[in-house]
Amino acid sequence: MTYDSDTYGDRTADEYDALYSDFVPPAAQIRLLADLAGTTPAVEIGSGTGRVTLPLAEHVPVLAVDASEEMTRQLAKKTGTLPITPITADAAHYLAGRRVDLVFACFNTFFLLASETTQRAFLRNAARMLNGNGTLLIETFVPRPGQRLPDGPHPGVFPKGRSVVALKRRTVDTVVVFAAENHDAEQEFHYSEIVLRDGEPVRVLPGQMRYWRPEQIDALAGEAGLLLRERWEDWERTPYDAATSGRHISLYRLAGQDL
Ligand SMILES: C[S@@+](CC[C@H](N)C(=O)[O-])C[C@H]1O[C@@H](n2cnc3c(N)ncnc32)[C@H](O)[C@@H]1O
Repeated sequence: MTYDSDTYGDRTADEYDALYSDFVPPAAQIRLLADLAGTTPAVEIGSGTGRVTLPLAEHVPVLAVDASEEMTRQLAKKTGTLPITPITADAAHYLAGRRVDLVFACFNTFFLLASETTQRAFLRNAARMLNGNGTLLIETFVPRPGQRLPDGPHPGVFPKGRSVVALKRRTVDTVVVFAAENHDAEQEFHYSEIVLRDGEPVRVLPGQMRYWRPEQIDALAGEAGLLLRERWEDWERTPYDAATSGRHISLYRLAGQDL
């Protein structure tokens, strides 16, 4: 099987909520995203099954973009009367067709775009979609080999070496195991979530990330015409600490715009 932009989503969509539904976005996250969106729809890249999209759409309309048809289908089942437009599109090509105040990719989605080419194209597209005072927000883990990922109650591990197996979660009838390889020369992180549920076939859900340190993301963003405005380690806006923070929430604006 070849790993493509829709592989993660298509293979994971029907399990995603079982794996992540108790990773509830904090109120501060939804408040910040709604504030940044202002009076325009928020563009979410990699909306998945709507973990963030759904609570955000209680406040502002969301253009929910995902490369995976299966993810888009799962989200569309839940939108009800909320102002959500589910869109199947690759971040490398998506342009909203209008200017907006907020484009965002949270929960490591920027890394999951999986290739530098797609990441660069996404950054260029974000710059083209933003209003003069608009914001691109990116949330990713900080690559610190050997550490648990900062991802909710059942995190995986970002290993030092090329392979590790960690327990993600365990209930009476289900065990989720995380197997990962960190190819640090290439800055690639390949992993599989292995779902063992009593009496059911084993599920192997692969993910592939092209990861970067925060200052490397700033350089990529700079080449797309975007400038770092703020960086925090959490949604409560705790200042980012380059020595200790396990994750960063980074806000970029168009270069050349006065604040
Ligand atoms: C970690 S999930 C995040 C889902 C959701 N935002 C959340 O916080 O739970 C990343 C999502 O990015 C999507 N994705 C991966 N590559 C993509 C691409 N090239 N363009 C758009 N979406 C992509 C995946 O299908 C997946 O739904």
